[in-house]
Amino acid sequence: MQIQTKEADGAFGARITGIDLSKPVPGEDFARIILALGHHGFVCFPRQSMTPGALKAFSGRFGGLQISVSGSFNDPEHPEVMTLSNMRQDGKPLGLADAGQDWHTDMSYNATIGYVNVLHALHVPYRDGEPLGDTLFADTKAAFRDLPDEMKARLDGMTVTHDFEKFWESMRARPGSTRAPLTAEQKAKRPPSVHPIFITHPVTGERALYANPGYATRINELEPGESDKVLQFLFDHQLQEKYIHRHRWSVGDVLIWDNLVSLHNAVADYRPDEPRMMIRCQVSADRVFDPDFVRATLAPLERAA
Ligand SMILES: [Fe+2]
Repeated sequence: MQIQTKEADGAFGARITGIDLSKPVPGEDFARIILALGHHGFVCFPRQSMTPGALKAFSGRFGGLQISVSGSFNDPEHPEVMTLSNMRQDGKPLGLADAGQDWHTDMSYNATIGYVNVLHALHVPYRDGEPLGDTLFADTKAAFRDLPDEMKARLDGMTVTHDFEKFWESMRARPGSTRAPLTAEQKAKRPPSVHPIFITHPVTGERALYANPGYATRINELEPGESDKVLQFLFDHQLQEKYIHRHRWSVGDVLIWDNLVSLHNAVADYRPDEPRMMIRCQVSADRVFDPDFVRATLAPLERAA
């Protein structure tokens, strides 16, 4: 297994070749993958071929898998695997067409936040020989590092409320959205949650800003007006060009990103007749904050050293 980082893009984003993710991944390689994710934010494994079952088995090694509330596009056999697509068959959509089309961090609205997302590209739209539907990432470690010292000191220890409905409503407000308002039952399944404004990555020990524009609604320790002002500053700060990195998809890519150190945004620059399809698993940070999990995951590396 070889890990390459893109020099031009600084330390954010990596590519790993020489491994077949459809087969059980040896412990030493898995440890390197988890470290690469924490350090580089997102990792692409090109030319993979994974069934929904294989994607679920591999993703499950990072932690518990979330099952989407809407349910409509979950794999019948493996409901933890969801299809994202603009494709239709017999007039019916084959997947969720507008997933993630703005800046956010997955599952920050959950009491147990999201750890990694695992996506596998089955169809990638092309126009004039160029791929469409890139995924953008923002480096929230660098954004944290560059905050003014007095702001770091002032906000340290504060908490942010994250609300699933904020992003859902902003997607609904877009022209052509087919999303219905959340039902009382769906809302009850996704109540807002509260997390530290700065988090420490449990594997790398590095700190990151954790306040994404998609879901963050309030800094709880500040007056509402001040909270709005500071949140807007943080949203603008972390989305500066210098923190943004782009993944251009190829069919067969498995792309994993670490939600603890990144924001992402799915660019919707393709038309309904330009087919795109991904299968996806979303993994909770239910195990990665357990020091025993981290120790056990990294142990094969120490044995090899
Ligand atoms: Fe997302």
